[in-house]
Amino acid sequence: MTSDIPDPSRATPEGASDWWRHAVIYQVYPRSFADATGDGVGDLRGITARLPSLAELGVDAVWLSPFYVSPQNDGGYDVADYCDVDPAFGTLDDFAALENVAHDLGLKVIVDLVPNHSSSEHVWFREALASAPGSPERARYLFRDGSGPDGELPPNNWQSVFGGPAWTRVTEPDGTPGQWYLHLFDSSQPDFDWRNPRVREQFRDILRFWLDRGVDGFRVDVAHGMIKVEGLPDYTPPANGGSMGGGAVGLEPDIESGADDPTPPFWAQEGVHEIYRDWRLVLDEYDERILVAEAWVDPPAKLARWVRPDEMHQAFNFAYLATPWSGPELRAVIDTSIAAFGGVDAPSTWVLSNHDVVRHASRLALTAENPQGHGIGPDSPGQPVRELGLARARAATALMLALPGSAYLYQGEELGLPEVIDLPDASRLDPTWFRTNGERYGRDGCRVPIPWEADAPAYGFNATGTSWLPQPDDWAPYARDSQAGVDGSTLELYRAALAARKAHDLGLGSVEWLDGFGEHVVAFRNRGLTVVANTGEDAVDLPAGTVALASGPLDSRSLPADTTVWLTS
Ligand code: GLC
Repeated sequence: MTSDIPDPSRATPEGASDWWRHAVIYQVYPRSFADATGDGVGDLRGITARLPSLAELGVDAVWLSPFYVSPQNDGGYDVADYCDVDPAFGTLDDFAALENVAHDLGLKVIVDLVPNHSSSEHVWFREALASAPGSPERARYLFRDGSGPDGELPPNNWQSVFGGPAWTRVTEPDGTPGQWYLHLFDSSQPDFDWRNPRVREQFRDILRFWLDRGVDGFRVDVAHGMIKVEGLPDYTPPANGGSMGGGAVGLEPDIESGADDPTPPFWAQEGVHEIYRDWRLVLDEYDERILVAEAWVDPPAKLARWVRPDEMHQAFNFAYLATPWSGPELRAVIDTSIAAFGGVDAPSTWVLSNHDVVRHASRLALTAENPQGHGIGPDSPGQPVRELGLARARAATALMLALPGSAYLYQGEELGLPEVIDLPDASRLDPTWFRTNGERYGRDGCRVPIPWEADAPAYGFNATGTSWLPQPDDWAPYARDSQAGVDGSTLELYRAALAARKAHDLGLGSVEWLDGFGEHVVAFRNRGLTVVANTGEDAVDLPAGTVALASGPLDSRSLPADTTVWLTS
């Protein structure tokens, strides 16, 4: 059977202006990538020194999670100054040096933009607190009077994505209990009022600040949340977990149940699109810059609205990330993704891991429900078996990198890193952990500094051996230098897959489904390559062809469970 899925790419391989349509983009989480100063927190100079290893890996671009001035209550997604680097990470000069080295290596640089909220330490918020209710300073955020007799109850019933109420009451400058402000995330992350033209103007300036410094694009945080329904009406999420009660980042609507839930009054409002159209005009003043939406919106047909021709260029495909290791479900999400994004002439994207989800080397072997953002700890049900998780992760990555469009990798997945499940409670820093009183472990387990050298202090993360989250004792085999040049290692699998993807221009290809392998197998042709992924328990016969890539050992002409193979004919 040949699918009639439109080819998602209109670019020629040489088409530099469309680099993002087929790019593999590697996410760096600066706190945990490489630490040049040795204080236990990664930094820009550390990243710069390690960039050659990313060029060697074969990725096209790096996306840096926030490195801006921040009290770090939410790993830097609480920005106190959008136009400067936090001293913990370095300086603007360090950023310029990073960018120069990246560009010299042929790597694009995408930075994170956090427009839904600032840090409560941002000067705008401080000014708001120091000003009277109704003042222009307060109008940059969502301050409201409380309900109840003396305003002692929150203005509505919204809950924070991280747990607890989405409102905090302030003490007015005269010392009396005062208004409340909205924070969809932590109380240190007040939401902006995006209906206010001054907020819009300030963000245009922030875009230009970084565009003028040569960044190749922005990953836009919470790109489905900036506009709230007028009047901020109460909202109770559906019993199935829905968008506010369930996932920490609030997938909307519940992606797993597929239920057609009502749209919450703070997610996916039509008004956000006007903002992106405006930003697109700014980006189009520059060459080849892109906007990437972090929008937890389902189904892909709805998410595709974020990447209409005059809006953003890409959106993370979280429907794909949330798909279990299941043949029928993978085929379905691949079809719907390519059709939805292709329908608006955007490339599909693919992603399996990031700094907000359980690493896919563990997630794909979980045997119990684990809503996104909850994380896993020592007493979580359905603990993953490490070997099974790694086999599935390698197979899932080999499948993902064979798909047309653009793919995202998260630092450490090329080493096969598992989630760290047994972090000491005292080391946890995710606001989710605190706001749920430890009921949800949160996301620290995927943020542990990554291992570079098996025998070095902190596995080569730095020279001093300190690390803001403790690294497990058994990570030496995962270290980059344990895997480099070793046949069959996860690092070499990624390198080989990225090289073959490029050689065959798979990112610019299309999916032509192949039948006859049984329901647990995902099989297709892309640009003359045959890709077969076995999600089932039994081995299947391999079709004819020469093996170009295998995610695990093959048993002569059969493809074992949890293995993906690429064949040339
Ligand atoms: C996004 C980020 C996440 C952060 C949240 C609030 O979902 O990826 O890490 O906590 O937004 O900014």
